[in-house]
Amino acid sequence: MGLFDQLSLLPPDPILGLTAAFNADPRKTKVNLSVGLFKTEELKTPILKSVKRAEALLLEEQHSKEYLSIEGDRGYIQQVGALVFGQPFWSRSSEQIVGVQTVGGTSALKIGGDLLKREIGKELYISEPTWPNHRGVFSHCGMRVQNYPYYDIKKNALDLDQLYSFLADLSAGSIVVLQPSCHNPTGADPSLAEWRKLSALFLEKRLIPFFDFAYQGFDEGVEQDAKAIRLFVQEGHEMFVATSHSKNFGLYAERVGALFIVTHSKLAAEKTLSQIKVAIRTNYSNPPLHGASIVYKILSTPSLRKEWEEELTGMRERIIKMRGLFTEALVAGSRNKEFRFLKERKGLFSFCGLTESQVDRIRSEDAIYMTGDGRINVAGLNRDNLDYVVKSILKNETR
Ligand code: LMR
Repeated sequence: MGLFDQLSLLPPDPILGLTAAFNADPRKTKVNLSVGLFKTEELKTPILKSVKRAEALLLEEQHSKEYLSIEGDRGYIQQVGALVFGQPFWSRSSEQIVGVQTVGGTSALKIGGDLLKREIGKELYISEPTWPNHRGVFSHCGMRVQNYPYYDIKKNALDLDQLYSFLADLSAGSIVVLQPSCHNPTGADPSLAEWRKLSALFLEKRLIPFFDFAYQGFDEGVEQDAKAIRLFVQEGHEMFVATSHSKNFGLYAERVGALFIVTHSKLAAEKTLSQIKVAIRTNYSNPPLHGASIVYKILSTPSLRKEWEEELTGMRERIIKMRGLFTEALVAGSRNKEFRFLKERKGLFSFCGLTESQVDRIRSEDAIYMTGDGRINVAGLNRDNLDYVVKSILKNETR
């Protein structure tokens, strides 16, 4: 028996595995509503014009591909820090915030998780439901990962009462992963008043927030979508923030992200950075240059930044428009279900209340791909496929 024969065969990734299955599906009517990618009305995921322009400038200006430092490009970190925390807080407090460039948002979670496991060693909680890779990443850091209640599937609504009472029972120092906007997979976010209540509870119980911020600008705007993070820093939390530029700059394949750790002193930040540098060095040594250079160039060049903000607004408006049309068509056609809640959801995703067996049937009969939990990416809809998708969902709602 060979060395590798003893390995067990694992199932495909619940999200990225579906893209492979979709690509291999020969049916002409197929529709991909699974992976979280922005798509235009033509169902393309184009390179943003601001990104193309920044790349053209970089081609002229960059003369070396030497290694970045372990923590990444300082200019990039400064720009992204201000984008996430707001310029006033960042200017005032950046000395006590550790900021490092990472390989997309996923490695920000992993690097933060490695530090938590090695140095802090507390329990970690993720929402039920959440992005499946949260459990994957943090359990691969060696952490014990548990769920907290977040969403009531039967009522298609947030279940904040259950959430508050669950959090109130956690031991001090527990780490709680939160999504500040466009919750993946439900699309259901707390209001500002509810974030205030959560912040008070976290302070009282001394819980540590770990924000996963992957969709800044996909709900209301760059500034508005950061409201929970900005509230928490104003209120004095020590916390983690993982950010990603896959979606808001369309830089999916460039893997651009950052990890920020807000501490209470310059000295604590220095110690934390020294630990984080070891975690980075032993994972991927130092981060890649290209994507971060694009983001830096755009954010630090007023004309490019303006163009990017307009493009981001365009993406957001298309998502909101398709969500509206989708909701109206389901509401108009459904005899049994109340689909109006879908209109209130934020960002790319929503649960549309389908069971796993309904999702399987929709995929096998109609070649419509969504994740097994019934999450759909509304940007995968367009005027050509909307009726087809709605009919399939309605046909299956009682089966
Ligand atoms: C998603 O949830 O579809 C995206 O965040 C892509 C991914 O890496 O899973």
